[in-house]
Amino acid sequence: MQTKPSIRCSSERMAWFEQARFGMFIHWGLYALLEHGEWALNRERIPLDEYSKLAETFNPRDYDPKAWAQLAADAGMKYVVLTTKHHEGFCLWDSKVCKFNSLNSAARRDLLAEYVTAIRNAGLKVGFYYSLGDWYNPDWAAGWKGDDQARVRFIDYTHALMRELMAQYGKIDLLFYDLPQCYSAAEWRAVELNAMVRQLQPQIIINNRAMTTEDYTTPEQHLNAAPRGRMWESCMTLNRHWGYCPTDHDYKSPRNVVLTLASAASGAGNLLLNVGPDAQGRIPIESEAILRRVGQWLQVHGESIYGSERHSLLWNLWGPTTVKGNTMYLHLEDYFGPTLTVGGLTNRVLAATLLSTGQRLYIDQRPTQTIITGLPEQSPDELLSVVKLELDSPPDQDISRVIGAADIFPDLPK
Ligand code: GLC
Repeated sequence: MQTKPSIRCSSERMAWFEQARFGMFIHWGLYALLEHGEWALNRERIPLDEYSKLAETFNPRDYDPKAWAQLAADAGMKYVVLTTKHHEGFCLWDSKVCKFNSLNSAARRDLLAEYVTAIRNAGLKVGFYYSLGDWYNPDWAAGWKGDDQARVRFIDYTHALMRELMAQYGKIDLLFYDLPQCYSAAEWRAVELNAMVRQLQPQIIINNRAMTTEDYTTPEQHLNAAPRGRMWESCMTLNRHWGYCPTDHDYKSPRNVVLTLASAASGAGNLLLNVGPDAQGRIPIESEAILRRVGQWLQVHGESIYGSERHSLLWNLWGPTTVKGNTMYLHLEDYFGPTLTVGGLTNRVLAATLLSTGQRLYIDQRPTQTIITGLPEQSPDELLSVVKLELDSPPDQDISRVIGAADIFPDLPK
């Protein structure tokens, strides 16, 4: 008897995510009104009755998720992940289970429904962030401090909210859990929770932050490739805050962002880059300007980023290298002028191009060195220039002269 391929076959479900490389994280909730980031309630010990009054003034008149989606698309991002509920406990959707929600705020809107429609219509993948932690619901902390009944109530509450999220908004592509630490996987009934999620959303991709391994690993504020065969995504802030903080002007430069993106792509991982809209729903103009600049760079250089593969090329002097099939992309973080030398490449180089301008380059291939010439004196791209090398086979590097390589990187092919 022939067995049908399962729609939950990992590679099929994961295919878009493994190509995507760049997504937008959005931290947005009542905390935007306070302008100190998303931890204000907890860090400033704001009394709950005072905090809950924020809902009465939360009326984001400029909320236009179509503009968010357009910006994400213009930035070259392929998916968006919005905080449906952060640790503050406020739900951005029409919840029957949690009254502390956007329908009962001054907004009187299902903000999440509008978001899902806009992101989907822009052709982007739809992601939900959901914090398992909850400062608003007293059962969360009580359960954790030993009140078993409160804990059971809270876990039931969590499952019920997750059911709403998974059932009310059509196809959801990705689920980003956060803050599971207070309870064990068994207490969360995490296996049952994710089984329910996958039953309602058979194609969904789930992160590893519900005390279960699931589909991908989530380093935060740094890059760290997961072991071969495991998908990963680094989430990072654009300034130093996740939630809106107008006094924080410590933004990453567009060059820093494209370098980070190229580094993630060199390890076949994704970058989920955050913006924190203000209480009116506007993405800060500084964030917007950086993202647009990154998008311009991706328009020219996107082929070196999207769909990049895992490789074991090491030890170069220029910067991150990405690989796709028989092609190598050298991201020239260090730009040395007209000549670029690639050491130890064992393949034949068929063509060399400066991706940034389309200009053909010259190749002088010697036994241990590939010397590329004809590059301009100065880096032609203001952010990051890229050289594309087309080879006769998947790139390989002779590492016999690299002392200790096999000990440091035991999974290397040689
Ligand atoms: C950090 C922050 C949290 C944020 C998360 C995103 O853990 O404390 O507020 O949502 O990063 O991964």
